[in-house]
Formats: sequence, structure tokens, C-alpha cells
Amino acid sequence: MRTGSSERLSWHESCGKSSDPQTFASGNYTPGVARYIHSARAAFRHPHYASTVLKDAREPTLTATVPFVDLEQMNAPVKDQILSGVGRLIDNSAFTNGPQVAAFERAFAAYSDRAYCIGVGSGLDALRLGLRAAGLRPGDEVIVPATTFIATLEAVTQAGGQPVLIDITNDDYGLDTSQVAAAITSATSFVMPVHLYGQLVDVRALQAVVAKHGLGLIEDACQAHGATRDSIRAGAAGTAAAFSFYPSKNLGAMGDAGALVTDDADLASRVRGLREHGQGAKYEHLVEGYTARLDTLQAIVLLAKLPWLDWWNAERRSIAALYSEALDGIGDLRLPRVPRGSEPVWHLYVIRTREPERLAAFLANRGIATGRHYPQPPHLSPAYAHLGYQQGQFPVTEALAAEGLSLPIFPGMTEQQLTLVIGAIGDYFFNGG
Ligand SMILES: Cc1ncc(COP(=O)(O)O)c(C=O)c1O
Repeated sequence: MRTGSSERLSWHESCGKSSDPQTFASGNYTPGVARYIHSARAAFRHPHYASTVLKDAREPTLTATVPFVDLEQMNAPVKDQILSGVGRLIDNSAFTNGPQVAAFERAFAAYSDRAYCIGVGSGLDALRLGLRAAGLRPGDEVIVPATTFIATLEAVTQAGGQPVLIDITNDDYGLDTSQVAAAITSATSFVMPVHLYGQLVDVRALQAVVAKHGLGLIEDACQAHGATRDSIRAGAAGTAAAFSFYPSKNLGAMGDAGALVTDDADLASRVRGLREHGQGAKYEHLVEGYTARLDTLQAIVLLAKLPWLDWWNAERRSIAALYSEALDGIGDLRLPRVPRGSEPVWHLYVIRTREPERLAAFLANRGIATGRHYPQPPHLSPAYAHLGYQQGQFPVTEALAAEGLSLPIFPGMTEQQLTLVIGAIGDYFFNGG
């Protein structure tokens, strides 16, 4: 965490000159922020709320905006490396299947504790190709959580399957493993958990259920690069796992990109075929496939960024810890829970309050951007109305959709920005918004 000043330092400068991630000591925040948070907490509770907090939050020098994410900051230390890689790519024209694709696949397989990684065009490609390659038959049922980004369901239906929704838990906002057994029918072939907001579901419990019922387990790890739970890494729990490298993800490309990881050599080879028109040898089409390759350009970007991922995740953890310390017990806020043994990577930091839109508008007025993930759960979306689910069927999902508000969290967030967010939230609750 870097100290804030009215002139914001670039990520590169503030990391201390080097573009080598090893030299950047992430996770340290200055005594200034600790002091601020303690005075903020005391002030929030003070009956006459004329505190340093309010003063700080309204101070003219603290009028900088706080974006929801700041990709410019994150890209700064890798920009030169990427530019020279892209320059070489323009010269050699290996725009698809260039050597950087295989190099990134090797690096990301190792990062994920898996034998194989297959780069594809998006997280959705990884999920739908993965389901097909893992043996999903037309009409097979796939159990998925009711809270997720819509792509989880798109993957199932586009691969020919039928999504079967179950509710999430309030502990980790992941699929409620205790409800899986009751949802299984003779048509069920897979369970596809989503590690929502960067926190793994209870993978050990889930592994036990799928093993007992002989089902496949494919993880939607699109939001969870580098997270662990009970010593299992995101992507290492089941048959295969999908990652998205959408630009704002913890590991983001500069456009759409994704990957599937697995230990199964046959499955990996089927996905390699599917991503390129179902071909085995060139122009030998074994099955109907897709155009779903990982572009060489995106592989160049991802190779440059991967060494930073753990440092960036550490930075997110520091910010999440500060939010959790400062906002605990404020107003009607409900903060994210972290079950014992879980190490989230905080793709999103989602608080809950009765009127999230009102708080969002208040924060926007102070120049603070927030997000809602996701206000319309898939079962209530027109796109999936035909599944026949009703309002009220998934109470935890619907409560989270009604109450959730995502706060800014990104590597390179300054102390000044964090201070502004915490101060404004305190002001909203203690000073009538
Ligand atoms: C949980 C989840 N699943 C799937 C996807 C799809 O990834 P992509 O946008 O790369 O296709 C996303 C991306 O936002 C996601 O958050």
C-alpha cells in the first residue's frame, strides 16, 4: 500500500523504480493508514461526529476520484515489456499459435498445480469447451450456483446441457454443498461450482459429494486466480477448471482471453482440438469445433503479468483487511466472511446494506465508484426465464442481489483513496447520508 499524496504516483514509481515484481514489498501499509482507521472507528462511534474522519473526507486535497479499478496503474510496470513483445510479434506475424501461447500455458499450468493448461479465447470458451471435452452429453444436467455471472449458465446451455440451480451459502457466497445431493437426478453429470468474488467454495466437502455420486467436477475459477482453501488451489480441485483473463480480472489480458487447466491428457487434447475447429492434424476435422484460440498477443500480455499476480493478490488482501477492520460494525453493513482455511484473492470486496443503490449514489457524489455484482440473478433474467425458476426460490442469492455493493479494490490503490472510501461510508451511516 502506498501513501497518498495530492499528486498520485504511478504504480511503477510508487513500487520504487523497478519493474521486477520481486522487489516490490506488497502488503505493507504505513502507520498513517493504521492510525487513520483507528481514529475513524472511534470517530464513527462518537455522538458528535465532527471528527478528523469527516474533515479528512471533505478536505479539498482529498477530492481525488476513486475509480472502481485502475488498470493503468497495474499495467505501468509491464508496459515496456509488452510493447517490445508486440513489436516483435508485428515483425514475425505469428498472431495465432505463436510460441508465447505455449510458454504461457506452461507457466499457468505450473501456477495452478496442474499438468496441462490450454489457452482459449475467453472464460466462457474454457467452460463450454471444457464441459464438452469432459463428456457432457446433450440434455445432461449440470448443478451450478444460483449466484454467478451469467456466463456460467451460458456455458452449460451452449455445451448442450441443462443448468440445475442451487442456492449459495452466506459464509462464502459459493454453492451450498449441503444442497447438492438433493439436486442430483439420473441425468446429472457434473457439478460446476463458482469461486465467487475470489473465494473458493468448500472444495473438500464438494469433492466428497461428487465422489460419492460419481459426478464430474469442473470449477468456474474465473474470479479466483491464486486463491486457496484448505490447501487446495483454485483450479486444482476437480476434473478441470476454467479461468477468465478479462481485463479487470486479477490476472487480466488486454482484451478477451481464458484458459482451461486439467491433469487429464486426453481432455486437454480434446480442448486443443475444439478450440481450433475440431481439428486433429491440420484440416483434419474430427468433431465440430470453434474459433476459440488464445491470441498470441494476449499470451504476450499474460506472460508479462503472471509474475506479478501473487504480489497483486497480496495487495488486494491488504486492502480487504483494512476495509474489514475499518467497516466492522458500522451501520447495517454486513462484511464478507472468510471461513477458516480460506485465502481469498478478493477479486471483489462486496459489502451488504439494505439500500445499496442509495449508498452507491452517495459515494458517487464523493467521486467514489462502486459496482453491483450482480443485481439480477440468472434465474430472474429474461435470458433464462425458460428454466422455470420463480422469485423467492433462492433466498440467499436474492438477498445478496438486493443488498450487495462492491467497493473499489485494486492493486495500486492509494492510502488516500482508501481513506476517502472509508471516511465517506462512515459519513453516510453516522451523519445521515
Ligand atoms: C464467474 C464467471 N464465470 C465466467 C466468466 C466468463 O469469462 P469471460 O468473460 O472471459 O468469458 C466470468 C467473467 O466475468 C465470470 O466472472
